[in-house]
Amino acid sequence: MGASISSLAQNGDALTAVWSDGERTDLPYLWLRDNCGCGECCVEQTTEKRFHVFRVPSDLKPSKVEIEAAGSDDEAISIAWPDGHRTRHRSSDVRGLLSRPRLELQYWDGQFQPRRFNYQRFLADDSAAAELIEEFLRTGVCVLVDAPTEPDSLEELAPRLGPVREVLFERIHNVKLDPKGYNIAHTALAVGVHNDFTSYTWPPSVQALHMLVNECEGGASTVVDGFGLLEALRSEHPDKFDVLCSVQVPFRIFSDEYECYAANPMVDLDSDGEIRMIRFNTAQMQAVPLSEPRLGEFYAAYHELSSRVNDPGAQVTFRLEGGMILLCAGHRVLHGRTEMVSNGARHLQDAYFEHDNVRTHLRLLRRTGRA
Ligand SMILES: [Fe+2]
Ligand SMILES: [Zn+2]
Repeated sequence: MGASISSLAQNGDALTAVWSDGERTDLPYLWLRDNCGCGECCVEQTTEKRFHVFRVPSDLKPSKVEIEAAGSDDEAISIAWPDGHRTRHRSSDVRGLLSRPRLELQYWDGQFQPRRFNYQRFLADDSAAAELIEEFLRTGVCVLVDAPTEPDSLEELAPRLGPVREVLFERIHNVKLDPKGYNIAHTALAVGVHNDFTSYTWPPSVQALHMLVNECEGGASTVVDGFGLLEALRSEHPDKFDVLCSVQVPFRIFSDEYECYAANPMVDLDSDGEIRMIRFNTAQMQAVPLSEPRLGEFYAAYHELSSRVNDPGAQVTFRLEGGMILLCAGHRVLHGRTEMVSNGARHLQDAYFEHDNVRTHLRLLRRTGRA
């Protein structure tokens, strides 16, 4: 057992626990009542909550609180409520909720090489899958090798990565030289590093780029850690970072059949101020309206970001051969391609998945003891 509770004190709207190591924790009464795990407050079959917090007064206070033994090596906070209900919280459970689990990110620069994993093992072996997903969550990028070269093989990844996230364009998207193509990737030109579908408010958060055949000269793949360079920019130029978080930038991708447009800041933060998403797509960026009051500041910040994104020191370049799949965390990692000579066959397919589904597959593997 970890630290135990040495004392409990009732305050205005919370119980203050003092742990044996001296740490103090405030446990709001409504939190203690809301998280009651008894058979009356939960659906026993599913463990889901049945209790609704509106059923007790907002100024609820316990009528009695005590520490009880709970088995040989744990103890529980036992609470009697004025309506006669009783709640018990094991100290070890409360202790486990003192901090919020956070993903450890590993930032990288141009010296980094994405780790390679065997395609069949990733599909067939839960431990190998867990290892890949952990690496992917940490770095935002991995490469699968010895993958099939048949078209639409990306569908096979769904048991690991979750269902394909469809967009307006093809479910499995073909990238080949195409004189009628609607996007720069269908030309032989270099494709600057970007993330896809910045023209959605929620762009696809995982992208799998599957090379079926690559016999052209040039056309090497490039990846950049968007989060790593944004963190550097935030610490060196906080004002510029702030402008990128607040000025809305329109992005558009379209064809004869489809139209996809959204305006959002280039950087999204979560409620803790952590970077949640970068949107960077030079080819699909539209003019920021002249009515934008911070337009001048925005351009100074965007220039700085564009310089950093295109700095060779930030870019990892490698060749994707036929039978290789590049997995990118779409909200974090930017990808691109060097210019190529159209002197051989080249066929890339890509499809999107969702980061939540990848992350929670690892959780499932851990919870069920499969990995
Ligand atoms: Fe792309
Ligand atoms: Zn209960």
